[in-house]
Amino acid sequence: MKKTILITGGAGFIGSHVVRLFVNKYPDCHIINLDALTYAGNLENLTDLDQSPNYTFVKADIRDAEVIDALFEKYPITGVCHLAAESHVDRSIAEPMAFITTNIIGTVNLLNAARKAWTGNFEGKRFYHISTDEVYGSLGSEGFFVETTSYDPRSPYSASKASSDHLVRAYHHTYGLPIVITNCSNNYGPNQFPEKLIPLAINNIKYMKPIPVYGKGENIRDWLYVVDHARAIDMVFHDGKIGETYNIGGFNEWTNISLIHTLCEIMDRKMNRAPGTSASLITYVKDRAGHDLRYAIDATKIQRELGWEPSLQFAEGLEKTVEWYLDNEEWMTRITTGKYQEYYEGQYVKR
Ligand code: NAD
Ligand code: DAU
Repeated sequence: MKKTILITGGAGFIGSHVVRLFVNKYPDCHIINLDALTYAGNLENLTDLDQSPNYTFVKADIRDAEVIDALFEKYPITGVCHLAAESHVDRSIAEPMAFITTNIIGTVNLLNAARKAWTGNFEGKRFYHISTDEVYGSLGSEGFFVETTSYDPRSPYSASKASSDHLVRAYHHTYGLPIVITNCSNNYGPNQFPEKLIPLAINNIKYMKPIPVYGKGENIRDWLYVVDHARAIDMVFHDGKIGETYNIGGFNEWTNISLIHTLCEIMDRKMNRAPGTSASLITYVKDRAGHDLRYAIDATKIQRELGWEPSLQFAEGLEKTVEWYLDNEEWMTRITTGKYQEYYEGQYVKR
C-alpha cells in the first residue's frame, strides 16, 4: 500500500461518505476508519465496504490517548482526516461535557500522537481537521463568513469545535505539524442521524407526526449535499496548502420554514398524498437556547484555489435525499427505536 490514511468518525454521517470515497478511489492506499460507535456511529452505513482489501475498521475512542498512540505505532499512518466529534447542537445544550472531552481532548490526543509519530519527518504527512461554520458565530441579514472572520462560537458545540480548531493551528505554529482545516456549512443527504432537521422532518412526515420547527422558523442555514462535502474533503486532503483554512458551503441559503415547506411538497408527491397534507404537520415549538440566526459561507477560496464547487442543485439533492430515506426504511427504524426514542421524548414531547 502506498499510504495509510486514518479517518476518524468514519461510521458517522459525513465520515461514512468520506470513507467510501477514499476506499474506492484510492485502492492502493490503506484506509483505517477509527470510530467509537457512539449513538451516532453506525457500521451499517458502510456494509458495502466489508470485503474491500484496503479497508480496516478500528473501534476506539479518541479520548483514550494510549489507544491512539498505540494505533500510530501499529500502522505507518501518513495522513489523518479527523471527523470524529459530538456533532448535535441540542445535545451540547443539554449535556456539554461529552463535547468538551471528545471534541477538544480527543482532538489533542490525535495531535499528540501524530506529532510523536511524525517528529523529525513531516515530509508527505498531513493532519486534516474537519470543522464547522458555527465557529464564526451568527450573521445578521447581510454578509458571509470568510476564512478570516473572527471566531465567535455561541453554543457548547461550536465553542468545543472552535477550541479544537485553535489547538490544531497552535500545533502547526508551535511544532510545525502539517495541518489543514476546513469549516463547512450544514450538510444533508443519506445516512444522517434523524436528530438533525432534514431526516427528522422526513421521518415525522412519513408517519404523520408533528414537524417541530424552532421559534418562528426564520433561522437561515446554508445547505450542502454530503457527497459534495466529501469531494471537497478529498481535494483539500490531497491539494490544500499546509497551514491553510478553507471554507466550504453550498451557496444555498434557506430559512428553516421555507425548507420545510419544500420538503413537505416533495413528501406529498412521493407519498401520493393530497397537496398540503404534510404542511399541516408543521408545529412551532420552543426555540433552541441561543439559536444562531444565520450562517452563510463564502466558499470562493476553495473554488478559486482548488476548483471545487457543489455539483448538485438543492431541489435535486433534496429529492435524492427523500428517496434514500424512503428506500431505507430499516436503517431508519433500527435507529429510531430504543435509545433514540428516549432522546426524542426528552427533546420534544416533554418540552
Ligand atoms: P456524526 O455525529 O454523524 O458522526 C460523528 C462520528 O464520530 C460518529 O460515527 C461517532 O461514533 C464518532 N465519534 C463520536 N465521539 C467519538 C469518540 N470519542 N471517539 C471516536 N469516535 C467518536 O457527525 P457528522 O455530522 O458526520 O459530522 C462529522 C464532522 O463534521 C464533525 O467533526 C462535525 O463537527 C463536522 N461538521 C458537520 C457538519 C454537518 O452539517 N453535519 C457540517 C460541518 C462540519
Ligand atoms: O452549520 C454546520 C452545522 O450544521 C454542523 O456543525 C452541525 O454538526 C450540524 O448539526 C448542523 O447544525 P445545526 O444546528 O444548524 O443543524 P440542525 O439540523 O440541528 O438544525 C438546523 C436548523 O433547524 C437550526 O436552525 C435548528 C432548526 N431545527 C432543528 C431541529 C433538530 C428545528 O427548527 N427543529 C428541529 O427539530
